[in-house]
Amino acid sequence: MKKYTSVDDIQDLKEFLELAKKIKADPLANKKLGKDKTIGLLFFNPSLRTRLSTQKAAQNLGMECMVMNLNTEGWTLEFGDGEVMNGAASEHIKEAAQVVSQYCDIIAIRSFPTLKDKEKDEAETVISSFVKYASVPVISLEGATEHPLQALADALTIEEYKTKERPKVVLSWAPHPKALPQSVPNSFVKMMKKMDVDFIITHPKGYELNPSITEGVTIEHNQETAFQGADFIYAKNWSSYNDYGQITNQDPQWTIGKKQMELTNNAKFMHCLPVRRNVIVTDEILDSEASLVIPEANNRTFSAQAVITKLLTQ
Ligand code: CP
Repeated sequence: MKKYTSVDDIQDLKEFLELAKKIKADPLANKKLGKDKTIGLLFFNPSLRTRLSTQKAAQNLGMECMVMNLNTEGWTLEFGDGEVMNGAASEHIKEAAQVVSQYCDIIAIRSFPTLKDKEKDEAETVISSFVKYASVPVISLEGATEHPLQALADALTIEEYKTKERPKVVLSWAPHPKALPQSVPNSFVKMMKKMDVDFIITHPKGYELNPSITEGVTIEHNQETAFQGADFIYAKNWSSYNDYGQITNQDPQWTIGKKQMELTNNAKFMHCLPVRRNVIVTDEILDSEASLVIPEANNRTFSAQAVITKLLTQ
């Protein structure tokens, strides 16, 4: 594997999950793999879990880790080809990516979408430019359209907690006061399509995700119908894809609470975090035994460690 910027980069999910499970059982077993190697974590946006879990994963492999909030601490970057750089940008990605490649053996980047310019977001300008100009492997710490490290942790969590061979997994839209990216649901959908699960998406009309990603997946606009017999409820807000970046619904009926969870097969509740309590999900569910959000966040370390291990060994 040369990069991990999309769930599409996974060739063999089963093998990947076996590796993550092995790492989780003994996280320090390969402490020498990353000796004298460095990972650079570059953030254009805030993070708690991704930053700390990736750092922890690197440490578990004996790697050095450099972290930079590029949006506030670095030069403003230019990504366009042939630009006359007489505006705000001081440095071109061509130099920046090559320079960082000399300091790091892996570069990992977080860069959220604009949610205004769909074409630019879908081009994944920041991450794809690093892939193009860096001479070392690149990991997405969440890009404009995908969050593949989160999806790998989600897959590992479902594997660990499933009680039947083919569980029913429901991805449910939930309300939120701010416009959020489609990255987490996009990667989750891609991941569920790779897994042996009975997968349904439920959302209000107008919140359809990119149809090329959801192709072949059942979409149910009635949340109660979708929740019937579910084994896992994965809650997430996203802004409209068609009415790009807009909030077109904030109906609190979609907040996940006891009423909805009682329709399920004693389902486990999942969310990538951070989560807005009593907006996305009620306290009652989040604080209940059904909630997997803490072990799910713990799995971020082992999924990141599996990705770094693959990049260092292949
Ligand atoms: N789930 C997730 O990516 O969390 P952070 O935004 O805190 O990294």
